[in-house]
Amino acid sequence: MEGVTDPCYRAVLLARHQAEDLGGACTEFLRVVDHAYRPDQVRKHLGQDESPIPVGVQLMGSHESALAGTAESVLETGAAFLDLNFGCPTKGALKGCAGSALLREPKRLESIVRACVQVCGTDLPVTAKIRAGFDDAESVEELARAAEAGGASLLTVHCRTRSERYTPEVDWTRITRAVEAVDIPVCGNGGVQVHADLERMRSVTGCAYVMVGHAALADPWIFSGQEVTAQAAAEFLHEYSLALESAGAGPRKRAARLKQLLKVWSAGRLITDAADRKSWMAEREPERLLVAMEARAACG
Ligand SMILES: Cc1cc2nc3c(=O)[nH]c(=O)nc-3n(C[C@H](O)[C@H](O)[C@H](O)COP(=O)(O)O)c2cc1C
Repeated sequence: MEGVTDPCYRAVLLARHQAEDLGGACTEFLRVVDHAYRPDQVRKHLGQDESPIPVGVQLMGSHESALAGTAESVLETGAAFLDLNFGCPTKGALKGCAGSALLREPKRLESIVRACVQVCGTDLPVTAKIRAGFDDAESVEELARAAEAGGASLLTVHCRTRSERYTPEVDWTRITRAVEAVDIPVCGNGGVQVHADLERMRSVTGCAYVMVGHAALADPWIFSGQEVTAQAAAEFLHEYSLALESAGAGPRKRAARLKQLLKVWSAGRLITDAADRKSWMAEREPERLLVAMEARAACG
């Protein structure tokens, strides 16, 4: 996820999970405009450390040759897979005819997947992530088939349409429809709130895998279902801050990253009520926020 799932976050998450709890992960999207990324630029997002789970690189763009060129770089980095983002709903993505804009052009979506598959061959699986549609979900089967026809080896279906952005209500039958439309494995996404939803989505829709977005920001232990203490939750955030510091991030960036999580954090009941959350969010001095987090992590 953009601004969250950097190599530091993944390292802290992985240290607290069995590999099988997580299955796999993906970098935040790399926006490909009209020139290809070099391998060293891609590697920055993947991180240097060997990962116990497959970690893929996500690209978002519509410029086929720039995407194909970046796919070559991804291949060189040894990433586990290359994922193509056809779901990003932002105005910026639409302006560049990227992300969810391509949901209106299934043929072009197919062609982009094919261009990357041609570069990656059998060495690097190419996967795709779509939303259920742009304005409505009428074409979810057509979109799923387009990704499959282009050569995608796995398809993630975020069951909201672009128009629905991140509405709380979700319709998992759209995932079922995609599962029934293609032969490749489908990863369902959208509206998972608690650990039990992972299995529920699999059994209700028939999807092979489940992806979690917002709920994982609030509680990174959603993948294992473990109930953690407030201290363990504070330790997670503190370690994340330390990992960012080791990677060269200054106090301002570290505090901003922590606040992105604190805004929605629920794990360990670390945040006791709305007033407590407000006081964390109101802390303007990055150093003071970091010291307070350290103190919470240290108290048993
Ligand atoms: C902060 C944030 C950043 C995100 N960044 C990405 C991204 O880089 N690539 C992507 O495919 N989806 C991204 N998403 C979307 C999520 O992967 C997911 O599809 C979406 O949140 C729906 O799942 P949920 O209902 O479990 O939250 C992001 C979501 C959030 C909240």
